[in-house]
Amino acid sequence: MNITVIGTGYVGLVTGTCFSDMGNKVYCVDIIEEKIEDLKKGIIPIYENDLEEMVVKNYKNGNLLFTTNLEEGIKNSNICFIAVGTPMAKDRSADLTAIYKIAKNLGEIIDHDMIVVTKSTVPVGTGDKIKEIIAEEFKKLNKPWQVHVVSNPEFLKEGTAVADSMRPDRVVIGSDDEKTIEILKELYYPFVKNHDRFIIMDIRSAEMSKYASNAMLATRISFMNEMAMICEKTGADVNKVRLGVGSDSRIGYSFLYAGCGYGGSCFPKDVQALIKVSENYNYTPKILKEVENINYEMKKILFEKIKKYFLETKGLKDLKGLKIAIWGLSFKPGTDDMRESTSVVLIKELISSGVYINSYDPKAVNEAKKILNDQLYKEKISYFNDKYEATEDCDGLVLVTEWNEFRSPDFKILENNLKNKVIFDGRNQYNNDLLKNLGFKYYQIGVLE
Ligand code: UGA
Repeated sequence: MNITVIGTGYVGLVTGTCFSDMGNKVYCVDIIEEKIEDLKKGIIPIYENDLEEMVVKNYKNGNLLFTTNLEEGIKNSNICFIAVGTPMAKDRSADLTAIYKIAKNLGEIIDHDMIVVTKSTVPVGTGDKIKEIIAEEFKKLNKPWQVHVVSNPEFLKEGTAVADSMRPDRVVIGSDDEKTIEILKELYYPFVKNHDRFIIMDIRSAEMSKYASNAMLATRISFMNEMAMICEKTGADVNKVRLGVGSDSRIGYSFLYAGCGYGGSCFPKDVQALIKVSENYNYTPKILKEVENINYEMKKILFEKIKKYFLETKGLKDLKGLKIAIWGLSFKPGTDDMRESTSVVLIKELISSGVYINSYDPKAVNEAKKILNDQLYKEKISYFNDKYEATEDCDGLVLVTEWNEFRSPDFKILENNLKNKVIFDGRNQYNNDLLKNLGFKYYQIGVLE
């Protein structure tokens, strides 16, 4: 099939590349010329496993094309995926400016029957609005073509984006047109063959399914973080509680890890957007608001633990002049994405208390430098290429992101490098008893100190 994908961010680039890898001809369109030129040279704007090789291979064999010219894509294809960002607007709703602008452009450009698919996460009703905008343009220009708008939300995770797209758990298709549904099924068949993973529904339910999925996952995390806070007070261990809870097949183990808050470009934005949509329809969501509130608190918890240790246990008057090592900057392992990362909240709190930071992350340093680009941060943060070097002469170590390489460090080196044998772990990675036997003070989330 010939396909246009608008937007070369995480979702658009990965989706387009995977379609091309299955033998389709894909036009990836973006308004940023530099990005398109880079992609043609095999320079990928994000770090994602296997993506670079796939982009280069399919660009070379002619299945994957990069262009800033939307018309070129549309004229040569029958399906168009919209995969541009829907960032959080000032009022915390999803900003749909780019989506509606594209809908108008499509109305102007389309010159044959076409299927227009929203892959971006969009609030309920956006598909209908896109239909209206295109129809309006068609009316003005007297166009006879049929356009079917479909909602086909993307469920990939950063860090495993290619694998998730190549083998999706489900393919949700929101459409009211039988023929359109058949065409999309044909397109996706190679990704889900031998498994019946198509879920067909109306557009609004498909749009809502995406928000409800992310909201459910975020709720599980905040719920577990609330349990963690209760565990800390009562002397239970949330790591053990997770096993006790997750073993119930109705609940399951995944997304029950307590920690220093969820981040990324999706959960924070989507939970907020869903709250906003509900309020627009005169419904005040209760659980969702608390999910967000708990997460806000969790992002501050490492700072609270560090402060308590130095002020109460070490008897310091304040944190001024301390040097703290931070392992992990990205919002989760496997990505260089710093959006809504807990590390940023922690670093800002520490620096405003007069602390110097030694940081190490296997991939996210460049992104971190872009976000923490104020003079104050530049002066107070050092970035290291080696995780142990980052700990030299530090007053303590904090683990924020659980990259594999942090899982079983050489504690002897840490013991030599750190001035205090203390580790603050935001992702509960180490064995409590082992660290205590080695003489470390070990602070986790949801375990009594
Ligand atoms: C999330 C969803 O998992 C995807 O299904 C969805 O497609 C995507 O958003 C999206 O809407 O595009 P992603 O943001 O890549 O994917 O990251 P996750 O793996 O879901 O992790 C999100 C955050 O939750 C991370 O900060 C992670 O550390 C945290 N988390 C995750 C926990 O604190 N505890 C857990 O048990 C799991």
